[in-house]
Amino acid sequence: MRAPDVIVVGGGVVGASVAFHLAREGLAVALLERDGLAAAASGAAAGMLAPIGEARAPGALLGLGLLALRGFETLCAELRERSGIDPQYVVSGAMRIALSDDEAESLRARALALLADRELGVELEWLDPAAARALEPGLSFAARGAIWSPLEGHVSSPLLTRAYAEAASALGASIETGTPVEGLVCEGNAVEGVRTRAGRRPAGAVVLCAGAWTPGCLGWLPGARADLLPVVPVRGQTVTLEAPPRPRPGVIVSGNRAYLVPKRDGALIVGATEEHVGFDCRVTAAGVRGLLDAAPSLVPELQGASFRCASAGLRPGSPDGLPALGAWPDARGLFVAAGHHRNGVLLSALTGCFVADLVRGKALADEARALALERFAGPRSPG
Ligand code: GLY
Repeated sequence: MRAPDVIVVGGGVVGASVAFHLAREGLAVALLERDGLAAAASGAAAGMLAPIGEARAPGALLGLGLLALRGFETLCAELRERSGIDPQYVVSGAMRIALSDDEAESLRARALALLADRELGVELEWLDPAAARALEPGLSFAARGAIWSPLEGHVSSPLLTRAYAEAASALGASIETGTPVEGLVCEGNAVEGVRTRAGRRPAGAVVLCAGAWTPGCLGWLPGARADLLPVVPVRGQTVTLEAPPRPRPGVIVSGNRAYLVPKRDGALIVGATEEHVGFDCRVTAAGVRGLLDAAPSLVPELQGASFRCASAGLRPGSPDGLPALGAWPDARGLFVAAGHHRNGVLLSALTGCFVADLVRGKALADEARALALERFAGPRSPG
């Protein structure tokens, strides 16, 4: 069997997208995933495509998030066509509500600042409480106003991951689940493949896309500088409810307390905790209780919703909330894409494009400068 040009380590939404974008550029790709596709954070993610809320202020996260959002319709059409899997992209609109007068004041100021920045080209509207309730009749009377952004929405994160992988496979990529990678094959300062239980797997390049586990993979490289990838696990728990249908179901977000993401099949995902508990990805009583309390505080009738399930995933948290991408210094042939924190689904396609450029020897695209690995570099220790 011919060695692939590239081995991608990790079958979450980022790894699957990287595999797809590399295969679309004509490279021979093998994706190796230790469990199943979307088995970790990508399986628990609610799939929100909502850059306006995730980025508190204009900056790289907002710019890239808006760019990514604008590409989703075309992306999902292409993935449907190539893979036969529908990622369930819905432009539902998203409402960010304020639950106090102070919060309304700061949310309104944020809306005005975003609107004033004409280059951003965001589409949004400030709604007073009556207007917010007219749009979302079930909304709590506690809502003191809201930002409405009609172009945001959601996808199914597990289906998007499978669609990327299946589309990559249709382009010739080998998607290998249940295949843990146990090390890198190094020759001098070049990375020439990976080690699995079944032996060495040579490749022209290796891309590490293992989410919160990526820094651990770098431990396979003698002397790797941990400061370049300060990615840590951040647990996010969600609960899924079966909710009575709303006339025009949109995403509802309340500060960083909670969000509601209505899915096409009638499920309503309530997210999410943000917990620094290491690699503990259990669902906990406290996490579920907090989410079950938060849901009816936004839409009171959810008190009567039925409970479907709860999940937890470990986000790959990064200090600035942005992913870190790049060729690993001093290790020819090794690339990294990790640290997507709360925005792996939204930024997955852009990440795939940027990494495909890097692997093909191009420079990081201008708009991706803020994602360069080097931004975390501390001073090099002497010697
Ligand atoms: N994207 C939302 C979250 O990570 O909870």
